[in-house]
Amino acid sequence: MIPEADVDARIRQLAEKISSDYAGKELHLICILKGSVFFTCELSKRLTVPVTMDFMSLSSYGDGTKTSGVVRLVKDLDESIENKDVLVIEDIIDSGRTLSYLMKNLKQRRPASLRLCTLLDKPERRVKKVKVDYIGFEIPDEFVVGYGLDYAQKYRNLPYIGVVELEGEKD
Ligand code: IMP
Ligand code: MG
Repeated sequence: MIPEADVDARIRQLAEKISSDYAGKELHLICILKGSVFFTCELSKRLTVPVTMDFMSLSSYGDGTKTSGVVRLVKDLDESIENKDVLVIEDIIDSGRTLSYLMKNLKQRRPASLRLCTLLDKPERRVKKVKVDYIGFEIPDEFVVGYGLDYAQKYRNLPYIGVVELEGEKD
C-alpha cells in the first residue's frame, strides 16, 4: 500500500514539523508497544529537540484482525509524565478505543502538554472520537502490516506498509 521510500519521506516531514512545533522545549515520547517501535525509532532519530522516551503496552486486539473491544494496560510507564511535554506515538488508529482510553488515562497524570502522533489513520473505522495531532497517512479500511504492524505477530519487520488479503474472511 505504501512503499518504503514514501513512508520514510513522510516520517522526515513529520519530524521537521514536530521539531519546529516543540522548538525550545524538551519532548517526552511515549512509544506504544509493540507496533510503534519502528515508527518511534525512525521519527525520533530525526527530531532536533532534546528527547526522552518511555514505553507502554496496551492490548485491544486478539491474535487476528478483529477487535475484542476491551482495552487492557499490559505495561505501564516507568516514569512520571507530570509537567512534561508528552507526545504519544502510535502505529495506527482504527476504532479509536485504545487511544481514547489511553489519552484519558495520561491526561489524569498532569503532563504540561499531551499530543498524539500516529503513522496511520483509518478514519472510516472510528467508533470512539480521538484528537490526533500528527498523522502520517490516512488509509482506507484494509488490514495492513509492516513498519511495526502485525498480523498474528508476524510481518512487523517489513520495511513498507502492505495489505493482508484474507481468504474467506470479512471483518
Ligand atoms: P483501535 O483501538 O481499534 O484504534 O486499535 C488500535 C490497535 O489495533 C493498533 O494499535 C493495532 O495494534 C491494531 N490494529 C488496528 N488496525 C490494524 C491493522 O490494519 N493492522 C495491524 N494492526 C491493526
Ligand atoms: Mg498497536
